[in-house]
Amino acid sequence: MKIFVTGCCGYIGSHTCTLLLEKGYEVVGLDNFSNSKRSVLNKIKKITNKDIIFYEGNMLNKELLDEIFTKNNIDCVIDFAAFKSVGDSVLKPIQYYTNNVNSVLTLLTSMQEHNVKKLIFSSSATVYGNPEFVPITENCEVGNTTNPYGTSKLFTEKILKDLSLADPEFKIIIFRYFNPVGAHKSSLIGEDPLGIPANLMPYICKVANKELDYLNVFGNDYNTKDGTGVRDYIHIMDLADAHIKGIEKLGNSQNGLYIYNLGTGKGYSVLEMINTFEKVNNIKIPYKIAPRRSGDIDECYADSKKANKELNWTCQYNLEDMCKDAYNFIIKNK
Ligand code: WQD
Repeated sequence: MKIFVTGCCGYIGSHTCTLLLEKGYEVVGLDNFSNSKRSVLNKIKKITNKDIIFYEGNMLNKELLDEIFTKNNIDCVIDFAAFKSVGDSVLKPIQYYTNNVNSVLTLLTSMQEHNVKKLIFSSSATVYGNPEFVPITENCEVGNTTNPYGTSKLFTEKILKDLSLADPEFKIIIFRYFNPVGAHKSSLIGEDPLGIPANLMPYICKVANKELDYLNVFGNDYNTKDGTGVRDYIHIMDLADAHIKGIEKLGNSQNGLYIYNLGTGKGYSVLEMINTFEKVNNIKIPYKIAPRRSGDIDECYADSKKANKELNWTCQYNLEDMCKDAYNFIIKNK
């Protein structure tokens, strides 16, 4: 069975591709290296001893998408390709809406023309905005997003819901990711953002690696257990495994659209993350309390019972594994 993975060299895409190949799927990949490196392809080969049928290019290039669907008998598409920095999106809304929304419209047009009707879409917990309650279930209200990144995911979810009603042959899963962190146990692939990281874990890793002097803790006056932001961190390999379970679900489910929260169901504060990272890696992470970051919310963590039950999926890794694997990736790729 051939799976088309957009953003195949990215953080979540690359980890998912390793599992797909190990499970015997054939993988067709697309990436434009806007936030990833070509060398990831060799790392995936090293891990799995298998090749991806790779195309370099942009999701907005319909001719390229048509070529991919014409040359490959694609069974299911997993769409990871998107810009994903909350802070960056506030500064560059047009780039975010163009890249994140128009690219999905181009993909869906090509899919429909080539009669490819199974899609797993990578969405985000940011569609919940400042959640009305925690832990967050899939029927928690969406819409009060606080940044263009989250709004671009919200728009795309609405497009997919409309498509599912208009073309009942489509089978669509929307995965709302919480906070993916960690790395493959081989330390060959991991979270490797270009430039200064916006997200907590890669920033902590750069402090641990002495590339940055200290961590700024964005606010300690939130309405949380210790005043710092609480999030649901999920190991990247648990997230990758959910996509394998998603493909299996689409293979034996009714047509329609399914939405799942992908989190551990546990919320950890910034200070708890720092303490855990220091403990498991036996290293000090200097930090300073800084002003709140605009667009941040107090706490956000998942109720993932629906995914657990309907996908037969449970998280295998805990916060200590996430901290250990993230740091191992950094020290083995200095
Ligand atoms: C986590 C916590 C910060 C950096 C976003 C997207 C989400 C996903 C992950 C795409 C918050 C605090 C952070 C730092 C800090 N992206 N923090 N100092 O904002 O929860 O989620 O990224 O899939 O969709 O919304 O993640 O890691 O940026 O922040 O104190 O240098 O760490 O305030 O409480 P976030 P994050």
